[in-house]
Amino acid sequence: MERLIIKGGNHLTGEVDCSGAKNAGLPILASTILLDGSAFIGNLPHLQDITTKLELLNSMGSAINFHEDGFIEIDSSNIVVPEARYELVKTMRASILVMGPLVAKYGKAKISQPGGCDIGTRPIDFHLAGLEQMGAEITSDSKYIYLKAKKLTPIDFEFPKVSVTGTENLMMAATLIDGVTVLRNCAKEPEVLELANYLNSCGAKIEGAGESNITITGVKSLKADRWNVLFDRIEAGTYLVAGAITNGHVKVNKINPSTINIISEKLIQMGVKVNIDKDSVEVDATSSDLKAQDIFTEPFPGFPTDMQAQFMTLNTIAAGNCTIEETVFENRFQHVSQLRKMGADIVLNKNKASVTGVSNLVGANVSASDLRASASLVLAGLVGKNKTQIDDIYHIDRGYECIEEKLNKLGAEIIREPVVY
Ligand code: UD1
Repeated sequence: MERLIIKGGNHLTGEVDCSGAKNAGLPILASTILLDGSAFIGNLPHLQDITTKLELLNSMGSAINFHEDGFIEIDSSNIVVPEARYELVKTMRASILVMGPLVAKYGKAKISQPGGCDIGTRPIDFHLAGLEQMGAEITSDSKYIYLKAKKLTPIDFEFPKVSVTGTENLMMAATLIDGVTVLRNCAKEPEVLELANYLNSCGAKIEGAGESNITITGVKSLKADRWNVLFDRIEAGTYLVAGAITNGHVKVNKINPSTINIISEKLIQMGVKVNIDKDSVEVDATSSDLKAQDIFTEPFPGFPTDMQAQFMTLNTIAAGNCTIEETVFENRFQHVSQLRKMGADIVLNKNKASVTGVSNLVGANVSASDLRASASLVLAGLVGKNKTQIDDIYHIDRGYECIEEKLNKLGAEIIREPVVY
């Protein structure tokens, strides 16, 4: 176990390169199950979740090789055990992304029940309903879900609620189904589009990804291709908030600014100077007085739930009052109690938090409960007076590549130390 110790109060200054997106890399890795031959995937972030996904593929029979140029070669043409074990699913819910590809390619899958998690119940009923409609026979016991199918058939399926991994699972399964599948009310997240673009480069026929309705015309086989994973828009947003909250001047490089427009706009509304270039966004908050702004989370292109916690921290020290409403997950306010320990004035009422700005946060011993909550605590530590100690930081390592190195390069003072009991 490790913890982070942050000495707060430094103004962050400089440039930081954005890493590849975990949420784009995970479905692309799962999609290699559909492919014939070796896929070469680059710009994968060095994150625990990516390692877990590679372990999962390897445990099923995929051959994995790391190349010196940074590309990872994955040949999943010969899966021998189409099974996602509990140990791997429990640490990373996105393990369920192998379900659609396994049933489509191998006609069977055994997937550990994902169970609940800290940010809500997160069921997978849409994934299962779609696969069942495609013709998969689904049974389950307390530990596993079993899927079997002789031949899947195309469907016309409407998601009851927008689901990112649900869209990805069904879209992947449909690529190898003879006929035309239509998926409606799909997630429009850039990571869904990225997966479709990758599969199309492998020979799939997917149209409409990035919009509500996706049409997939099945093909007989897909040939593995080489691909560089898209940048992580949530990591980019987090570093922009780090610049803003420390009255700093930070430029985030290697991104596509159009996919983080909503984050840039919110920062501008809060009084931060934002300069948008072709492949970078720069915040200058050196002379900014932050003003509180309401946040309402929604699926893309709305304000991302994955940035809610970070913007809550920013609002804790902004002048005025705001309401932060979480509409995607029912229990995504675990950071509130920890921010309160640091002096934040936040009142919770179901899925709404009312935040009144205070003049500054004060360092405290806090604990990370989930990935984005951990990021919000790091941001609080950067601005909090004195020292902040963050325990349970394994969450942050699931989603942020070298976070303390990147922040320290911008002028933060963060050390990682082992926890000795
Ligand atoms: C993905 C992202 C996660 C992000 C989330 C919302 C990955 C690996 N993770 O998670 O970072 O926070 O999108 O943008 O890409 N739901 C159901 N039944 C289902 C599926 C979902 O009721 O079968 C509900 C969920 O409980 C939630 C909402 O739909 O309330 C959206 O969840 P979903 O988009 O599926 O989240 P994930 O794909 O798990």
